[in-house]
Formats: sequence, C-alpha cells, structure tokens
Amino acid sequence: MHMKTIFITGGSRGIGKELVYKFGKSGHKIFFTYNHSEIEAKKIVDFFQERSNNNVACFKCDLSVEDDVKSLFKNNKDLFSTIDVLINNAGITNREAQHFLLTRSRDWWLVLNNNLNSVLNCTRNSLPIMIRNKKGRIINITSLSGIKGNPGQSAYAASKAAIVAFSKSLCKELQNTGICINCVAPGFIETDMSKDAPKSYSEARLDNSILKRMGTTEEVCNVINYLAIDAPDYLINQEIIIDGGIA
Ligand SMILES: NC(=O)c1ccc[n+]([C@@H]2O[C@H](COP(=O)([O-])OP(=O)(O)OC[C@H]3O[C@@H](n4cnc5c(N)ncnc54)[C@H](OP(=O)(O)O)[C@@H]3O)[C@@H](O)[C@H]2O)c1
Repeated sequence: MHMKTIFITGGSRGIGKELVYKFGKSGHKIFFTYNHSEIEAKKIVDFFQERSNNNVACFKCDLSVEDDVKSLFKNNKDLFSTIDVLINNAGITNREAQHFLLTRSRDWWLVLNNNLNSVLNCTRNSLPIMIRNKKGRIINITSLSGIKGNPGQSAYAASKAAIVAFSKSLCKELQNTGICINCVAPGFIETDMSKDAPKSYSEARLDNSILKRMGTTEEVCNVINYLAIDAPDYLINQEIIIDGGIA
C-alpha cells in the first residue's frame, strides 16, 4: 500500500483520536492538532514512539484562529510540504443543548465560528500544497444534525450545513486540480461530545432508529478510511451519512 501523509484536525479525542490510531498503525504519516487536550495528545504520540514509530506528530493550535493556523503551516513548512489527505474533524457543540431564544448570541456564534473557521482555515492553508502536488483528498466531518436539524443545536446544525455548502462549492471550483472533497455525516456516536446530549431526546432518537444503538468511533473511521485511501476518484462531492438508520 502506498503510504500517505494525512493531516487530522482534532486528533486528541473521540473520532479524531480513533483516526490517528487507525492511520498511524497502518504506517501512514500523521500530523494532528489538539487545542485543550494536551495530555491526551501527547499520550497518543508516546504510544507510537514507544513502538519506534516516529511518523505521528501533534501540534497545539486553536484552528478557529486564522493567524494561528497560518503560523502552524509557516513554522512547519518542511513537515507540511505534502498533504495527501486533510480530515477536517475538529468541532464543538453547545455544552448544554439550549433553545435558540435561550442561547446568548456570544455562545451561538462561538459554535458556528469554531466549527466553520476551523474548516476554512485548514483548507485555505492546505489547498496550495495540494494544488502544487496536483492531488489531494479533503474529508469534512459534518453531522446528521446539519441535514435534519436538532432541537437545542441550531448553531451546531447551521455550522455543519454551512460546511457542506462550502465543500460542494469548493469542489466545483477545484475541477481539473486532482483534488477531491467529500463529507461524512455521523449520526449519534459514542464520544465526549454526545455524552452531553439530553437523555430523553437521545433515547427517543435511538428508539426510532433501525439499529437502536449509538455508533462507534471505529465504524465512522472505517468510512473515513475508505474515502481517504480506497475510494475511486469518481466518488466525489458527496455527503455520506453513517447513522445506524436514525434518518
Ligand atoms: N459524536 C457524535 O455523535 C458526532 C455526531 C456527528 C458529528 N460529529 C462530528 O465529528 C467530529 C468529531 O467529534 P467527536 O465526537 O469526536 O468530538 P470530541 O470527542 O468532543 O472531540 C473533538 C475534537 O475536536 C478538537 N477541537 C475542537 N475545536 C477545536 C479547535 N478550535 N482547535 C483545535 N481542535 C479543536 C478537540 O480538541 P481538544 O480537546 O484538544 O480541545 C477534540 O480533539 C466533530 O466535527 C463533530 O461535530 C460527532
């Protein structure tokens, strides 16, 4: 298998962490970012170094801050000279699901800005590298909430729907560059993020689904892995839902 250089945003926890382990164990070269979870991020790098694998590196960066992302790329020019796959995974949701009228404007925009700007900033800095190398795959992690909506999550849902619209337009702009963009929209996955969801609503959602259970990070990562490595170039500009039949 041809080894890839893969940039994963938000690799310290949840789906991103699973991705780092999955791709790292397969021998790919991985850069990932974290923001607050330094101990978790360092543990992951240690895991690989203890096994004499120095192909996994992490960087602290608040991806929602344009200048910080610019500096991340500028200060690590040599490492970032190739990016075969960019996985825009980092995201947050409101700590407590709250109806729109009860949500302070500042909190609403925090979620929207964090999620959307992280994708924009990483894409803006990765694209020139991919265009120069005449190839690249971008996978943006969106959400079923952005397709169906979710009570108490208007900012989160809006951010994810915006990422899809951005991805679809950008993919069309990038025709003939060798760069492919797809989105993956998970339903309800066992991570820190889903722990805070209101219990009654979560149970009702699962009761109404086909599989009646939450998804695992591994299941989501298998879809991302396919898009990143094995999928044909013809699979392009899609949003792929993985939700155990909630939809
Ligand atoms: N879990 C679900 O049910 C579910 C469903 C649909 C979609 N998703 C999406 O899947 C993705 C991963 O979610 P998850 O469940 O794995 O969440 P998680 O466990 O809460 O992890 C989120 C990750 O994103 C990072 N992050 C967030 N904002 C960041 C920023 N500004 N700069 C740098 N890193 C940032 C966090 O880093 P630090 O901890 O270091 O700050 C953390 O590594 C998100 O985009 C989420 O919206 C999740």
